[in-house]
Amino acid sequence: MKHGAVLFCGILTAFSASWWGMVAYPQRQLSPLTTYLGTNDAGNTYLYPNARSGEAVQGRQVYLSLGCVACHTQQVRPVDGGNDIARGWGRRRSVARDYLNDSPVQLGESRLGPDLANYGERLGTNAFPLARLFNPRAVVTNSVCQPLPFLFENRVIRSSGPSADALVLKGAYAPGAGHEVVPTLAAVQLASYLKSLQTSVELPEAPLPVVTEEASK
Ligand code: HEC
Repeated sequence: MKHGAVLFCGILTAFSASWWGMVAYPQRQLSPLTTYLGTNDAGNTYLYPNARSGEAVQGRQVYLSLGCVACHTQQVRPVDGGNDIARGWGRRRSVARDYLNDSPVQLGESRLGPDLANYGERLGTNAFPLARLFNPRAVVTNSVCQPLPFLFENRVIRSSGPSADALVLKGAYAPGAGHEVVPTLAAVQLASYLKSLQTSVELPEAPLPVVTEEASK
């Protein structure tokens, strides 16, 4: 071969450049990321991201197993990359540190439903509406979100009286007379995971947008 050495050098350079760009550089950029110790306006320190409760970690496995990621993302795009923040899906863009405790991360790629990166924040102090998991149409008219009746038990009301956990279901979704619908452990775990989804914490690489008096009018 006449130009064997040139060819070899060219191929080596092409492979080295792509290894550097796709493996070594991202590794160098992301591997030093650790939990962030910050101080809020009130002078209190906080750690971010916080480890999820055991119940929420189990719920994450339920979320993974049910394929919710097919319709829901967990990534808030920056202001110049879309209108996620204007829609109220988060107060700042998502960054790599948000996913430190999650493996595999549930970024998602299509959005038939709303982004869930901050669903827990949207719930605020409200309890998770378990009826939404049993059948989303019991909560939102004509919702196409996935119903999960198999995460609930439809049982005869016990002689000791109705369970405190029984869902309040009306109309077509109400259980038959003398019956009640109660969540299984997996439903409670999934609800706990969804409630734990909150990322709007101030970070050096992703400051929260400062709301000016003019903008808040
Ligand atoms: C076929 C697509 C689809 C799948 C699969 C799906 N969802 Fe949904 N989801 C939606 C749509 C559309 C909405 C918006 C309508 C509504 O609120 O029900 C939604 C809404 C939601 C909401 C309320 C979000 C908000 O901001 O109010 C939650 C929570 C939710 N889904 C959880 C789940 C979970 C958990 C799973 C997996 C078990 C799942 N979804 C699977 C389409 C889907």
